[in-house]
Amino acid sequence: MPLGFASARWNNVSSHRRSQWHTFIDQTEVSPLKTVQTIEELRAEIRSARSAGKKIGCVPTMGALHDGHISLVESARQETDFVVVTIFVNPTQFAPHEDLSKYPRPLEDDLRKCADAGVDLVFNPHADTVYPAKDAAYVEVPACSTMLEGAHRPSHFRGVATIVLKLFNMVMPDIAFFGQKDYQQQLLIRHMVDDLNVPVEIRTCPTVRESDGLAMSSRNMYLSDADRQTALALSQALKLAHDACCADGKALVEARQAMLDHLARFPDIKLDYVVIADANTLSEVEHAVPEMVALIAARVGTTRLIDNMLISAAVQT
Ligand code: PAF
Repeated sequence: MPLGFASARWNNVSSHRRSQWHTFIDQTEVSPLKTVQTIEELRAEIRSARSAGKKIGCVPTMGALHDGHISLVESARQETDFVVVTIFVNPTQFAPHEDLSKYPRPLEDDLRKCADAGVDLVFNPHADTVYPAKDAAYVEVPACSTMLEGAHRPSHFRGVATIVLKLFNMVMPDIAFFGQKDYQQQLLIRHMVDDLNVPVEIRTCPTVRESDGLAMSSRNMYLSDADRQTALALSQALKLAHDACCADGKALVEARQAMLDHLARFPDIKLDYVVIADANTLSEVEHAVPEMVALIAARVGTTRLIDNMLISAAVQT
């Protein structure tokens, strides 16, 4: 019996037939995973979970799942009773020159990982379901959309805010789980939820790293072996800044300089930004505030990577 199903065949069946139980079978265990593609089916599942008294957790993703996503699922399973993973490569958060068409879409593998992780439901909608009127309405969160990632990817956060609010309206979760890896994204979503009175709690879960420190990201699969080695400089630089502030009591300007000096040793790294910012506003800081975050965005070869590290210990000003 084949495991899962072929993605090409999947795209050709009707949405009615796509909603079904998938059983991923190996020698030792059987775990059922339900996938739905329409909002009606999704809401029916959520209604039935809620009427059984279950708390709903949601992990929004664009697929290409890795251990970082699975850690979000694990957090969701700890805090909620019915875990929904959404898999949707959201076109509106990609600029025309970005990697939408080549973004990895290993659906079969993703569903297997969801089944193994104990996800209850995967919502994997079509673009027409999510954007029936194309971009007739959208969400802007000016508070933290314009700096850092927003400055380098001008329409990105409008796309993120719009899709996340849409997903919240579709799934209606009690709690939604995001990774600290996309620091500005989680801050923006917190602002959106607060300012628009959206009844969902946001959890930010720690960045999951490879054993050598590289932050897990679906885009890591674009890195050549050499670029992957070079990419380690990002987490190394963040650690230098963290230790300069938290262990050595250095001033922020020196901590930032330590990052720049380290990154300058790698000619294949093209920096977009290297900052130490207030963790709540993302304004760059020169003097210490209680909660800070060091953030880097850079192109390694042709792959754009972001990473960050919280700096919360008392530092010299
Ligand atoms: O972080 C991501 O994977 C995406 O930006 C999100 C939150 C799923 C919205 O498309």
